[in-house]
Amino acid sequence: MFDSGFGGLTVLRSLREVLPELDYLYLGDSARTPYGTRGFDVVHQFTLEAVEMLFDAGCPLIVLACNTASSRALRTIQQQHLPAHRPDRRVLGVVRPSVEALAGLPPGALPGVTVPSMAEGVVAILGTQGTVASDSYRIELAHLAPGLRLLQQACPMWVPLVESGETVGAGPDWFLHRYLDPLLDRPQPPDRILLACTHYPVLMPGIRQIVPPGIEVLSQGPIVAGRLHDWLIRHPEMDERLSRGGGCEFWTTDDSSRFDELGGRLMGQSIRSTKVHIPCG
Ligand code: DGL
Repeated sequence: MFDSGFGGLTVLRSLREVLPELDYLYLGDSARTPYGTRGFDVVHQFTLEAVEMLFDAGCPLIVLACNTASSRALRTIQQQHLPAHRPDRRVLGVVRPSVEALAGLPPGALPGVTVPSMAEGVVAILGTQGTVASDSYRIELAHLAPGLRLLQQACPMWVPLVESGETVGAGPDWFLHRYLDPLLDRPQPPDRILLACTHYPVLMPGIRQIVPPGIEVLSQGPIVAGRLHDWLIRHPEMDERLSRGGGCEFWTTDDSSRFDELGGRLMGQSIRSTKVHIPCG
């Protein structure tokens, strides 16, 4: 699994709950985080370098937990890089499964084939500037559930708050309101909100205090884990290539003690990471 930092551990934690028998290697590019404020080319290059490093380490399947990387790099990697250089490997992102969940669709739904349980209404995503600017969620939603209206809100201060451990108090509350109020103060607020960034589930308690109980707030960990489980059932050729020792290794490109401290909180267990250098392409 790859993420721009340690936020993707919120997704890995769910994956290990649903698929505990698999072996995991997590790479967090903390030295170059945040990706969310970077341009398309830079995110693409960084993601490609990380993916190649994980392939070289022997991973047959990579999940890009990072929404920014999934939005800005996944399509090109899947359509151009893999067929030309790694035809036997797969890279999956988080946008497609999240959109399925946002629209109330079953895993692997095909446009026009399955009637969405939420055929119309308003949904919203909260994400980084890069994710929102890419319009990846709008494109995917228009494809799968065109009756749904999508609101998108970039929350550029939330990642720095989580990265610095400042998640409770008047300061974080002010920034929660800053990005949530414009969504909630609309004549037709969303029925469902997706936290489309790996870091945001850390802010869930504060978010839940602001968002009225009638509005669902979705985190990606359980969504991605459940749908990966389903994807593996539909792709036995990949499933049988995954090693099953229940192990979990953590690599970070920055100081490992900081990664262990913050990451341990997200994983709900103590972790020991290894500092690595991602070879530049
Ligand atoms: N991991 C990123 C995402 O899910 C957020 C952090 C960043 O900006 O690097 O979009």
